[in-house]
Amino acid sequence: MKILKDKQKCWCKSGKLYADCHKNFDLHLLELAKQGNIIPPHSLIKNSTQIEGIREAGRINTLVLDKVASVIHEGMTTDEIDKVVYDETLRLGGIPACLGFEGFPKSVCTSVNGVVCHGIPSDYKLKSGDIVNVDCTTIVGGYFGDSSRMFEIGHVSSEAHRLVTVTKECLDIATKNIKPYSHLGDIGYYVSNHARENGYSVVRELGGHGVGLKMHEDPFVSHIGKKGEGMLLVPGMVFTIEPMINQGRAGVYIDEDDGWTIFTADGSLSAQWEYTLLVTETGVEILAK
Ligand code: MF3
Ligand code: CO
Ligand code: CO
Repeated sequence: MKILKDKQKCWCKSGKLYADCHKNFDLHLLELAKQGNIIPPHSLIKNSTQIEGIREAGRINTLVLDKVASVIHEGMTTDEIDKVVYDETLRLGGIPACLGFEGFPKSVCTSVNGVVCHGIPSDYKLKSGDIVNVDCTTIVGGYFGDSSRMFEIGHVSSEAHRLVTVTKECLDIATKNIKPYSHLGDIGYYVSNHARENGYSVVRELGGHGVGLKMHEDPFVSHIGKKGEGMLLVPGMVFTIEPMINQGRAGVYIDEDDGWTIFTADGSLSAQWEYTLLVTETGVEILAK
């Protein structure tokens, strides 16, 4: 990392002088790097304008999932969920980020039962006992918010309900433990500990990610990890945590025909919840839930 001259414009594009912006932040990071820590590159640090924009995208993203929560019901097709997401996103002034993303055909991912993630909405009718993840990414003013929730349809088995509940706990425990200058590995540690304590396994192939200016940015946020290892989490970083927790084994496979849908290899149930998070000077702020 290069320390700029005091009178130079800050690298964060705030327009402010370096001395009045990220200079002390950089000196602190440099010190931490000398002590052997892995520090994030400047490209992962958002400025206050960007944070405001992502906060607004996250607010709209959350409202879209609130709308889904208010209408989802037994007998509804996942295509109808897709239409709700599309209509509500546009109504609130956003754009559904998934639509057309790398060829994805719909506005939202709907992942039912043994589908881990990236399920494509279809004419499938939700039935009593199903658990479904609705994963929504929203663009507002060029900024991205990304979150997902589980919904239990009709009467769900106690085992399915427990999986959904424990997966939410994995996300909340990992979130609560984020502090400025804690480590990326802590997230995987807290998620995998809680999942395994409950007899579940953690999907390794997919994870959380930096987000805000694009749908997917660095770093990759693994849901398996060791406490105190990996990159430092510093104020201004925005990323998701989105644990995919399986009732059975951790293995997954991708649907060869549609190229998107990820299934559990053993056919067991899988659950997922996702937040977009901002590391602040004092802790963590949930930007989308
Ligand atoms: N929202 C997903 C995530 O959490 C990404 C979906 S990409 C799509 O990262 F193309 F499948 F929509
Ligand atoms: Co998502
Ligand atoms: Co995500």
